[in-house]
Amino acid sequence: MRLAILSRGPRLYSTRRLVEEARKCNIDVNVLDPLQFSLSIGTENVEILHKGEPIRIDAVIPRIGHSITRHGVALLNQFEQIGIYAANSGDGIRLSRDKLLASQILAKNGIKIPTTAYVRDIRDVDAAIQRVGGLPCVIKVSEGTQGQGVFLRHTLREAKNLVEALLLGDKAVLIQEYIAESHGKDIRVLVVGDKVVAAMRRRARGSEFRSNYHLNGTVEAVTLSPEAETIARRAARVLGLGIAGVDLLEGEEGPLVLEVNSSPGLEGIEKASKVNVAAAIIEYIMDDWEFSDVNISQLLRTQTGSSVLSIHLRNHPKLIGRNIEELFAEQIKMPLFAISRDNDLIWNPDGALQLRYDDILICYGKTDTLRNTLKRAMKIDSNINSQYINYQSNTNDNSRDIISQQ
Ligand SMILES: Nc1ncnc2c1ncn2[C@@H]1O[C@H](COP(=O)(O)OP(=O)(O)O)[C@@H](O)[C@H]1O
Ligand SMILES: [Mg+2]
Repeated sequence: MRLAILSRGPRLYSTRRLVEEARKCNIDVNVLDPLQFSLSIGTENVEILHKGEPIRIDAVIPRIGHSITRHGVALLNQFEQIGIYAANSGDGIRLSRDKLLASQILAKNGIKIPTTAYVRDIRDVDAAIQRVGGLPCVIKVSEGTQGQGVFLRHTLREAKNLVEALLLGDKAVLIQEYIAESHGKDIRVLVVGDKVVAAMRRRARGSEFRSNYHLNGTVEAVTLSPEAETIARRAARVLGLGIAGVDLLEGEEGPLVLEVNSSPGLEGIEKASKVNVAAAIIEYIMDDWEFSDVNISQLLRTQTGSSVLSIHLRNHPKLIGRNIEELFAEQIKMPLFAISRDNDLIWNPDGALQLRYDDILICYGKTDTLRNTLKRAMKIDSNINSQYINYQSNTNDNSRDIISQQ
């Protein structure tokens, strides 16, 4: 396997460690600067050039810095397009770098996060603070890193001044519930390919409330509860990351996911946990590189005339309690291919399965047939049509998010 670490800093600890462990496995490895790539896009020919030359690699580990996220994502999308394996996809990086978007996906998938409000207008600050549990509250920019852009505010006046300044600077501003019991500490969990490989507790120094390693925080070993382990694995998964640093706060009622990092630093965690994380990453890539992730929602849109439609049972109370069979009685082959239930997917559900309030039906097939079938099925519910219109406009988004739960 020819492996490239996409990194601007060949001498950085994490980059060096990955190279070192790859060499131990006799992998042909190089560190390539993401900014030295150029892309060409055409219907006939899609190319990636490095320093003007065609590349000859099988797999990449992206270590994309925050300041070049946009470029990094474009580069990874192109790798995906030509079938070169990337340990983290462009999409995964894009989603996880936007705290607002990531919070929406995490919450939608039932992963607990601190209550978070998003405001665009200074007049909304007061209500937003109330919604997230009052003062003190955390105010952060959606695309910050290493603790920059994260603030604790104790009075309404201070909070408003800060939000105003951030909005003037054209930042997306989040107002977040302050998890007091976790003041100055958090847990970083390293998830590699669906498994937790290491974890550490990070503590801030002095009166600082942010526990980032880069703000001089200290690190120590920690044993994760099974609950925290499951949450961290799911958080990495729903954001589509093969390699992820999941940050957890220890709330009174259990772990909360704060954010998920797509290029987690290895220095602190290897020191604190004594785990060879770089080796775990290389091992995962050796196992995985021949199988690239597929963006199913994109794939399903390649054909005109077919689509994935979803129905949220909560909006159709009359269907609740019925069997699937009843819904699709006239169908030889049910267009239903999965039910999303309790943050899990039931594939090819049995006809006798009874529908519940929280279920989401996911159907796939020819759009016209599917619509007619579903409309007929939903006629059991008399006022169905007006509601159904809304599904059509949301269809693509719904299907994408549900599929990302896999
Ligand atoms: N809602 C919160 N409650 C308590 N502490 C928080 C909260 N949000 C952030 N922190 C602290 O601030 C640190 C940085 O916040 P985070 O959202 O992870 O931003 P960054 O991406 O800059 O690391 C966290 O590691 C945590 O210690
Ligand atoms: Mg963080």
